[in-house]
Formats: sequence, C-alpha cells, structure tokens
Amino acid sequence: MAQDNFSKIISHAKEYGFIFQSSDIYDGLSAVYDYGQTGVELKNNIKQYWWDAMVKMQESIVGLDSAIFMHPKVWKASGHVDAFNDPLIDNKDSKKRYRADELIEEQLDKIQKKVDKEINKARKRFGDDFDEEKFVSTHPRVVKYLGKIEKLRSRFIEALKNEDLDELKQIILDEEIADPVSGSRNWTDVRQFNLMFDTKLGSVDGAKIYLRPETAQGIFVNYLNVQKTGRLNLPFGIAQIGKAFRNEIVARQFIFRMREFEQMEMQYFVQPGTEKEWFPYWRDKRMNWHKALGFDDALFRLHEHDKLAHYASAAYDIEFDFPFGFKELEGIHSRTNFDLGRHQDMSGKKIQYYDNERGESYVPYVVETSIGLDRTFLMVLSAAYTEEKLEKETRIVMKIPAPLAPYKVAVLPLVKKDGLPEIAGKIMDELKYDFNCYYEEKDSIGRRYRRQDAIGTPYCITVDHQSLDDNTVTIRERDSMKQERVPAEQIFDIVNQKVNMKTLLKQI
Ligand code: GAP
Repeated sequence: MAQDNFSKIISHAKEYGFIFQSSDIYDGLSAVYDYGQTGVELKNNIKQYWWDAMVKMQESIVGLDSAIFMHPKVWKASGHVDAFNDPLIDNKDSKKRYRADELIEEQLDKIQKKVDKEINKARKRFGDDFDEEKFVSTHPRVVKYLGKIEKLRSRFIEALKNEDLDELKQIILDEEIADPVSGSRNWTDVRQFNLMFDTKLGSVDGAKIYLRPETAQGIFVNYLNVQKTGRLNLPFGIAQIGKAFRNEIVARQFIFRMREFEQMEMQYFVQPGTEKEWFPYWRDKRMNWHKALGFDDALFRLHEHDKLAHYASAAYDIEFDFPFGFKELEGIHSRTNFDLGRHQDMSGKKIQYYDNERGESYVPYVVETSIGLDRTFLMVLSAAYTEEKLEKETRIVMKIPAPLAPYKVAVLPLVKKDGLPEIAGKIMDELKYDFNCYYEEKDSIGRRYRRQDAIGTPYCITVDHQSLDDNTVTIRERDSMKQERVPAEQIFDIVNQKVNMKTLLKQI
C-alpha cells in the first residue's frame, strides 16, 4: 500500500464523517481525534465484534468497566512511574523532537529497503530462474547490507536492554542519521521521557494522580473482587474496553499514535506454568479474529519482541501492513505474576488463589491480549479503501466487512413523489429494529449509490414505480454492484445473512 493512499484515506475519513481532528475550529489539538456520525457507528461495531468474541463467546471470560482515575500507588506498583518511558532526542537546528529508538528503526528500514530493491531488480532480470536464497547469500551488495543490518540491530537491542541513552545517541551519530525534516545532524543528548499524563485530584493542592496509560491495571486491582463475587476458578479472564492516555513524544500518522485512545484488553489468569500453553493459544486465537474479517491474510503477520516491556516474559505483536508499512496492531504478552505480585506487596492485601486440586495458594500468572481500538479502526479503513475504475468514472468504495459497516442498508425512493417515499418509509420502519438504516431522497440514484459506497453500506434498496404495483424492490450489493429485483418481504433475510455478526464469530 502506498503512502499517497494514506493521504487519500485521511481526507476520505473526514469528508464522509468518519474522523475529525479534535477542536477543529481552533486549528485542532495534536494527536487527538473525534469520531463523526459514520465513524462512531463503525467504532461501536468493532467494539461489539471484540466484546462478542472475547466475552459473549467465552464461558471463562467476564467483563469489567473500571474507572480512568486510580490510586497513585497503582502506577508505582505497576512500574509505570519508574519505567514507562520513551527515549527522546531533539534536533537543535529544526527544534523538532523525535523518539531516538524510532530514528534508529527507520534507519534499519532504509537499509532493508535497499536489500528489497536489489532482490526485486534481480527477480525481474532472472524471471522464473531466480533463486532468492542463493542471491541473498552471495550478491556482494546485499551481503554487505544484511551484515550492516545485523550489526546495527544487535547494537540497538543491547542499548535498549541496558537503557543506555548515551549509546543510543552514539548510534545516531555513527549512522549519520539526519533530521528527516531539516537534514541537520545537530542532536541533543537522549533523555528518558515518562509518557503518563498527570493531574490533581480535588482541590488545587490535591494529590497528584494519573490518567491511566493502559486499561489493564483496572483489571488487576479488581482481580479479587471479580474472582470472589463471580466465584470463578482458574483459568478465567477479565475483559474491558476503555480510554487510555499517553503523552506520546511524536504523534504522527493520524489515529495510529494518539494521546487519547481506546484499548480493548483481556487478562487471562492461569495456574503458574500453564502460561506456556495459554500464550500461544491466545496469540493464535487473536490472529484468527483479525483474519475472520476477510481481508487479505498477507496484510497480517506476527512479530516477536526483541525488547520486552518491564512486566513481560514473552511478547508478540500482531502487525498489520498499514499504508506506511507493517506496524503493531495488537500485543499479546505473557505478564507472569508481576502485576498481581506487585499489587500484593504495595497494598498489603493477599492477592492469592486457593487451588483445590493442588492444595495450595499462589499468585496467578497472566496472559494478556491488548489491542488498540483506534488502530483497529485504521486497519479497517486502510484495508477497505478501494478505488475502482469503471467505464466512465472511478468509484471509491469502502469494502468494510458487512457486520462492521456503519449502515447495513440504505433505503432510497427513486423519486420524492407518487407514493414512493411512503413505501420506502414502511420498509425503514420494518428494518430499523434490526439494522442501522440510512434513508435518502435527494439527488440521482447513481449519486446516492456512490455516497453509500463511500461509507461502505453493503446494501441499497431502491423503491420505484413498479414497487407500487407488486411490492418488489431493487436490491443492490455494494462490492459487485449487482442489482436484483426481489419481493420487499425478502429484504430482511438477504441483508441479515450477510451483516449478522455471527458470520464473523463462527470463523474464529
Ligand atoms: N496493557 C498492555 C499495553 O498497553 P501496549 O503494547 O503498550 O500494551 C497495546 O498497547 C495496544 O494499544 C497497542 O498494540 C496499540 O494497538 C494500542 N496503542 C498503544 N499506544 C497507542 C497510541 N498512542 N495510540 C493508539 N493506540 C495505541
């Protein structure tokens, strides 16, 4: 997917009421966004897809909705006060601020692109006879580039593991990495920057509290409440959807990296030792959730973490091929008993599970699945956005999976008179209890179809003069543009078969 597609997707999202910049009339607030009339429907449907898959379909998982504000000790215990940092660096000439680790990652990507270019060139030259493995291991330039990548990557990982900020700066200098905006190499030292927003509770001199940077801690501190009142036995999970806040150093790329965003997280509590089985189970299950959406499987891949977060013993990302390349969409983490153990120590409350079978008490281990709702939204927009060349025009169609589409059906009387709006109104009244419907009388039918394509409505129902005689309508399918004449009583079944969430859930 090309970068220029990305600008088109961003403009399209605004033009059709999916996403607006926050406080637009005041020139916007950086990295904060609002969901418009179409966007809120898509967002709610993504939430429902996740909730149904993770709670409704799972006997061993229950839901929770915990508060954004939490006791400040929570963030001390979780390690976020001391360790939730990103390494930042400023360019002295351009005064622009960057994440040092991202500058180095971009440098690695740049070298990798040179390798890919050589491979593509050779593939074209040799055609069917091309032996990629041999080419990569023998071609002098490619061997040189790959050697450079390996050396740079291991130096980089070592610096991250040791939190060696001087070494990160030295890598930037040695690699002659320039400010992408000004081309200057005049860098400050690298500093750690804590990503948590803070505020005061109550009066002006009230205690400092944080806006939660992840929803997970709300689940950990409620572990005992839920386990006891729900009489739950291990293994069991707690799931929640909610806002999280991070004061990101660099927040570019639209809704990919925001300062206020929403997470959908599930913590699965297990017997110590069994996390080794549950970790791959949830990693694969989550991948199936993504693939059930019906987009090209090649758009998704797994990436194992080189540097683990302070709480994790193993971690994978599910990455998606966004218009700006493969990037993290969801994280699957084996969090050991780190969080519950730390809360037990800091709170002085015993957070243990009595295992009848083992005849002992212990702090459960945790496997976590954590996905950004806004990133999932961007994934759906990116994968769905399609420009199709027709005979006389190009149509833009959002091929959003039907169960997630903002509107499931548009009801369109051909003209605004002759009793057609009345029939269309009756059809709306029938369908609106089950589906989110769109009603429109204005403009030619062709223009109305295009507008529905642009927001991804799977079906358009057109009521015309024949409908007055025999109560049939034309039903048009979004992707194929095929039109069929059907009795009005059949509309529900046709639409329901395609837009029901069951069609997705059954595939996971
Ligand atoms: N509880 C674990 C946790 O928060 P994370 O990898 O930091 O893990 C999980 O975040 C997911 O939250 C990411 O995979 C991403 O989808 C989303 N996310 C994180 N930071 C984000 C941001 N600034 N803007 C939008 N989504 C973000």
